[in-house]
Amino acid sequence: MFFNLKLCFLILASLYSHAYSQCATGCDLALGSYYVWDQNNLTFISEISSKSIDEIISYNKEEIPNKDSIKSTIRIDLPFSCECIDKQFLGHVFRYKVRSGDTYDKIAKTYYSNLTDSNWVQKFNSFNPNNIPDTSSVNVTVNCSCGDSKVSKEYGLFVTYPLRPEDSLESIVRDLNFSAGTDGADLLRRYNPGADFSAGTGIVYVPGRGLSTGGIAGIAVAVVAGLLLLVGYFGFYRKKKVEKFRLSTASEDPSSRDHGGTLLKDEESSVVATPRLTGITVDKSVEFSLDELAKATNDFNISFKIGQGGFGAVYYAELRGEKAAIKKMDMQASKEFLAELKVLTNVHHLNLVRLIGYCVEDSLFLVYEYIENGNLSEHLRGSGRPPLSWSTRVQVALDSARGLEYIHEHTVPVYIHRDIKSANILIDKNYRGKVADFGLTKLTEVGSTSLPTRLVGTFGYMPPEYAQYGDVSPKVDVYAFGVVLYELISAKDAIVRVNNSAAESKGLVGMFEEAFNEPDPVEGLSKLVDPRLGDDHPIDSVRKLAQLARACTLENPQLRPSMRSIVVALMTLSSSTGDWDVGSFFENHDMVNLMSGR
Ligand SMILES: Nc1ncnc2c1ncn2[C@@H]1O[C@H](COP(=O)(O)OP(=O)(O)O)[C@@H](O)[C@H]1O
Ligand SMILES: *[C@@H]1O[C@H](CO)[C@@H](O)[C@H](O)[C@H]1NC(C)=O
Ligand SMILES: *[C@@H]1O[C@H](CO)[C@@H](O)[C@H](O)[C@H]1NC(C)=O
Ligand SMILES: *[C@@H]1O[C@H](CO)[C@@H](O)[C@H](O)[C@H]1NC(C)=O
Ligand SMILES: *[C@@H]1O[C@H](CO)[C@@H](O)[C@H](O)[C@H]1NC(C)=O
Ligand SMILES: *[C@@H]1O[C@H](CO)[C@@H](O)[C@H](O)[C@H]1NC(C)=O
Ligand SMILES: [Mg+2]
Repeated sequence: MFFNLKLCFLILASLYSHAYSQCATGCDLALGSYYVWDQNNLTFISEISSKSIDEIISYNKEEIPNKDSIKSTIRIDLPFSCECIDKQFLGHVFRYKVRSGDTYDKIAKTYYSNLTDSNWVQKFNSFNPNNIPDTSSVNVTVNCSCGDSKVSKEYGLFVTYPLRPEDSLESIVRDLNFSAGTDGADLLRRYNPGADFSAGTGIVYVPGRGLSTGGIAGIAVAVVAGLLLLVGYFGFYRKKKVEKFRLSTASEDPSSRDHGGTLLKDEESSVVATPRLTGITVDKSVEFSLDELAKATNDFNISFKIGQGGFGAVYYAELRGEKAAIKKMDMQASKEFLAELKVLTNVHHLNLVRLIGYCVEDSLFLVYEYIENGNLSEHLRGSGRPPLSWSTRVQVALDSARGLEYIHEHTVPVYIHRDIKSANILIDKNYRGKVADFGLTKLTEVGSTSLPTRLVGTFGYMPPEYAQYGDVSPKVDVYAFGVVLYELISAKDAIVRVNNSAAESKGLVGMFEEAFNEPDPVEGLSKLVDPRLGDDHPIDSVRKLAQLARACTLENPQLRPSMRSIVVALMTLSSSTGDWDVGSFFENHDMVNLMSGR
């Protein structure tokens, strides 16, 4: 097996070094420097950029102090996602609703303020340029950049910057306000080889303000991720046997009885449990017919689709008077799945998304309570949502910690989630967090002899012992939870892409570790704080949350705190009664020393 892995690694490594011509991935955020012309207004800018006025303002607090008006002849930053288009170049396609008399020239030069040019717009539209139909939509493609690790690893956010007659290399360097000791002019030249900064026209890419990410050696994530996929693939064949084994233990071994009274007897037995703790509700799961689910979603019409995960599409529906989310999975339902499902219907907690029922016709469907505000990842990085306040972030951290603590410590049998990440934490209408996605194959009973099973999870959230040896323990979830805490602070992805080639990326854990090791850790940390928080980030509180995250992501799983300790720590932090020593909550003295040393 070991030899095989090595071989795979080599094959993958050579694949990844040749496969891509221009780009493989983009980055979540780029900015367009938009020149506001006379008579322009925020409504219009919001329309052409498909961003809410609030979101635009959140990137331009100084330039737009007042929501009702905007100064003209200034530049503002428009946020957009920078994608790898046709594997050829990095760009973003805006949709522009045509008004009568529009030309590609006018759209590029005026409406989009030279963020693109008319040839480039025309290339992505099939209309006759002299006769663009009114009331149609045209694709407006704007180029962007995600940085270049060969130039510098310090910058990850870039601004597409149309040059104007008043610009020069010197004026741009001055405006960017590089930190002391940085040769800004040299940096800009190297990011834009051959560009004439005084041309008065054309596009250059400049680093986004105040968002340096700190240099960390890149790791070949794509290669490693590919490797992990392969490992998962091999593991899959063992899976079926394993499930059967677990099922038979479940029905014979008295220890598989739920403490609250659940006993799995056979297909027809109803599942009843008595709660041991308050705040836990217990329902019977409901079986839905395919007909009922199809009716409620207009035959799984795309307009009802609210999410997509690794396992299937998620649809919104109203079922029997309750708002629901239906997850449709492309796999045949098996007896084993049903058995697991029945156990799952009994794992209920305020901070876990509730499973209402299921359906096993044609595909496997899971019906969950509908959570109004989507997933945490969208809130941190998606477009069209206002930034979460600092106190909300701490609350969401506490909520999800409670959900995890529950499955780790209070259910019988005890579970490990194995796919904790921001996309699997949902935000309800009161901005409280709920852990979701108990994808059946991911839940693992602790101490189950069937381990190790398939390596599941998401790269960037996997602790070393799991990625390398497949060791599963609740500390796998603790590590991933630590990464989520770092995400709450920085709004960055668990894996931050460094350049366009996708070969080099850095992990959030490494980035924070680097910050902690800087001569002034607080300053290092400040650089990583989500800029959308503005002034709303009490640095003391940020530091404590980061320290907690650091403890969660320690390399040695035994030194990581338990979810129980984490809940206690977060409760103290969220009540923000001031003095809070992260070390005092954890039993392990090594960890305490480690953290108080800085
Ligand atoms: N109960 C729900 N209410 C609202 N949105 C949901 C719900 N469940 C899932 N979603 C949305 O669908 C996405 C994918 O769901 P998830 O359960 O994580 O599926 P997967 O196992 O395929 O990853 C989530 O990230 C979320 O945006
Ligand atoms: C905003 O600007 C657009 C384009 O110039 C114009 O058509 C529209 O009437 C303006 N709206 C307001 C409210 O001023
Ligand atoms: C875009 O550039 C052209 C010249 O290339 C200029 O005439 C026009 O005013 C510019 N647009 C804006 C909004 O400044
Ligand atoms: C965008 O990039 C492509 C490919 O690099 C280039 O051909 C095109 O001219 C660029 N467009 C603009 C408006 O700069
Ligand atoms: C805009 O781009 C999309 C996706 O490439 C394409 O399907 C569509 O036809 C384009 N629109 C026009 C007007 O050509
Ligand atoms: C430039 O940066 C320094 C510190 O790096 C800061 O004090 C100063 O206010 C900044 N100036 C502008 C115009 O942003
Ligand atoms: Mg998911």
